[in-house]
Amino acid sequence: MESFLIKGGVPLHGEVQISGAKNAVLPIMAATLLTAEPCVIRGVPDLSDVKFMAQILTWLGAKVDVHGGTVRTQAKKIKGQGDYDLVRKMRGSICIMGPLLGRLKTARVSLPGGCVIGARPINLHLKGFAALGAKIKIESGYVEATAKRLVGSAMFLGGRAGSTVLGTANVMMAAVLAEGVTVIESAACEPEVIDLAKFLSAMGAKISGVGSPTMTITGVKELHGAEHEVIPDRIEAATYAIAAAATNGEVTIKGARAEHLHAVIDKLREAGVVVERKGPNLLVRRNGRLKSSDVTTLPYAGFPTDVQAQMMALMTQAPGISIITERIFESRFMHVSELSRLGADIEIEGPSAIVKGGKPMSGAPVMASDLRASAALVIAGLTAKGTTKVNRIYHLDRGYENMDVKLRALGARIQRVEES
Ligand code: EPZ
Repeated sequence: MESFLIKGGVPLHGEVQISGAKNAVLPIMAATLLTAEPCVIRGVPDLSDVKFMAQILTWLGAKVDVHGGTVRTQAKKIKGQGDYDLVRKMRGSICIMGPLLGRLKTARVSLPGGCVIGARPINLHLKGFAALGAKIKIESGYVEATAKRLVGSAMFLGGRAGSTVLGTANVMMAAVLAEGVTVIESAACEPEVIDLAKFLSAMGAKISGVGSPTMTITGVKELHGAEHEVIPDRIEAATYAIAAAATNGEVTIKGARAEHLHAVIDKLREAGVVVERKGPNLLVRRNGRLKSSDVTTLPYAGFPTDVQAQMMALMTQAPGISIITERIFESRFMHVSELSRLGADIEIEGPSAIVKGGKPMSGAPVMASDLRASAALVIAGLTAKGTTKVNRIYHLDRGYENMDVKLRALGARIQRVEES
């Protein structure tokens, strides 16, 4: 296993190019199962999750070629069952269920387990499939949805924490080939869902209300192939913006869509960070001392849960108390104990973490636990005095393309090493 070795204390300077959005690419790759015609997806990041999704599509019978940021697929003939182990390893692959159900009227995948950030139930996905007329069966670790016909209907997909991103994506991908009209209330409004809807529409789907809590889908007989350029990754952009602020640097973030980042930009400005829009880029720099700031994560357009850990790493540098409340996942504070090993003073009180910021951080070996917690540890390591070793960085490689290369280009002293 590999680690990152980071010598902290260097302000980041320069430019970083944002890659395509992981959380848009995965459902869009799954959506190519909805047609027998060839599809081309451009602007795809080089991530292990993307390679994994390609393996799953191939296993299902699709022809998939991933090369130089472009994915070409053709799902001429496919089977309706995902490989138990493959699907189990990446919960994002649950989004193959909708297209399999839509195209084949049957889908059978392994129940995606929980992960370190929470139980990750799929009850809302299954509620949506059932509302379209599917019979749901759960046995020996598999979940199966089958239907003689899929018939559009009105459904409410809100759950314990509001809307569901992949639940909305999954039901959309079944509904596009259902007979009649489907109305999804409490649909997710994330930019990645909007990007999926754009791709589905390019394939001939009829979808309206995209980006609003009420989405209407009028089923069609079949879909054709399409080409698509994936949106930039707003979470990656937020991560580099926070790294620039945390290290007291000045970084131009190329290709960051400011319109996807209002909540993050608002919080950074509140914390004393300068964020300027320069065309399709963002210029981020610190303006003196950071100010403590409270954050609560919410469904889009609220503050994204995928930026919570990174924001916490920044708030360890802001003198005073910052309260960070996680409203989306039930245990997304794995980074707290590891940040404390670097000298952070954070106490967890239920869904909130109370950060007593402004204390100097000193490097230490820390353990990555999930994708965004790992990013927070890298940010903390970049600000800590001395050397920080972030172990198990395979978590990072799932969602950040060449993070060490991009950070070195910004002046960071970071090396990828074999874990000893
Ligand atoms: C997507 O996960 C993202 N993953 C996550 O990003 C992101 O954190 C999450 O949306 C929230 O924005 C991908 O897109 C691949 P949800 P998803 O369904 O769709 C509850 C990252 O770091 N819920 O929106 O699985 C659920 O427990 C990853 O890139 C139900 O109760 O998340 C959670 O509390 C991590 N029943 C809340 O809804 C359901 O059927 C939001 O989950 C589904 C979800």
